[in-house]
Amino acid sequence: MRTDTVPFSDAPTASRRPRIVVVGTGGTIAGAAGDAAQTTGYAAGALPIQQLLAAVPMLGRLAEVEAEQVAALDSKDMDHTTWLALARRVQHHVDRADVDGIVVTHGTDTLEETAYWLNLTIATRKPVVFTAAMRPATALSADGPLNLLDAVTVAVSPSASGKGVLIAFGHRIFGARDIAKTSSYAVDAFSSGERGVLGWVQDGRVDALRDAEKRHTVNSAYAPLRADWDASALARVEIVSSYAGVTGLQVEAAIAAGVPGIVVAGTGGGSIHQALLRPLLKAAEAGVVIVQSSRISHPRVTGDALDAHFIPSGTLSVWKARVLLTVALTAHPADPQACRDAFAHY
Ligand code: SIN
Repeated sequence: MRTDTVPFSDAPTASRRPRIVVVGTGGTIAGAAGDAAQTTGYAAGALPIQQLLAAVPMLGRLAEVEAEQVAALDSKDMDHTTWLALARRVQHHVDRADVDGIVVTHGTDTLEETAYWLNLTIATRKPVVFTAAMRPATALSADGPLNLLDAVTVAVSPSASGKGVLIAFGHRIFGARDIAKTSSYAVDAFSSGERGVLGWVQDGRVDALRDAEKRHTVNSAYAPLRADWDASALARVEIVSSYAGVTGLQVEAAIAAGVPGIVVAGTGGGSIHQALLRPLLKAAEAGVVIVQSSRISHPRVTGDALDAHFIPSGTLSVWKARVLLTVALTAHPADPQACRDAFAHY
């Protein structure tokens, strides 16, 4: 892990600028291909964070920028060890009196999970802003540099204080709870569905940034991250899906492995195939905490006759529901009511 101050050629020398720590974790924003026309088949996470910052010299007009490389992953390979390391480094930096905000560069594929993890586990009012890119840094019209500039613009904005973990991407500002990747190729790859964006950022200006509705960062009971949480301490939560022809195999394997929590990717409003329902009810009876969500990218699962057995995920996606259940079950092992409360508030 290295922390460097990045020198920028056009940095002003005048009064104190905000200090922003930019934490690199890899992704397409740090991706490199052999040819500028190549936008697939590149190596994600190949370039160090210092090189990404050096491509945006005008950052020096906005902030004193420090760089730290926490990981260099293709985010499909994100894991709990990296989540924990990232949360601890971000908490360390936001606790520094001389730091005003954090930017995290991340792959787009699992950005929504990592951003929500930090939304639950970082205690701060200071801005924590993720950004990413759909085109590798070596591509024609790479989107990373402008997204990085926008992310630092949000991180130095007083209006971003106390708003929870934000994502600056394509001039939009999303909240960590509701963002989802909705395109595998378009540069405009994210959406918050009907819940909408929190604001906009363009040309050095942050517009109309509103509050996120649910609990996060400043009022999260799970923040700061407990010192005794390591990868082996995090509750193991599996996801099972409902689909034509499904059997109880996944649930039986999860129960045999002793998992304390399962998120069900149901259909539509969260309905579950009867072949899956039977083993799930048996698991709930045996004390496994089951959350009922939906395969739909922006679902709304409000609960039904199964409420007595399963927790409805509300507007959380399957992936976010898994993050929340992992955190809630780790904080409150074998406490279904505490998990139910978590789904009401986060
Ligand atoms: C990744 O998620 O690391 C690769 C894909 C991307 O960043 O767009």
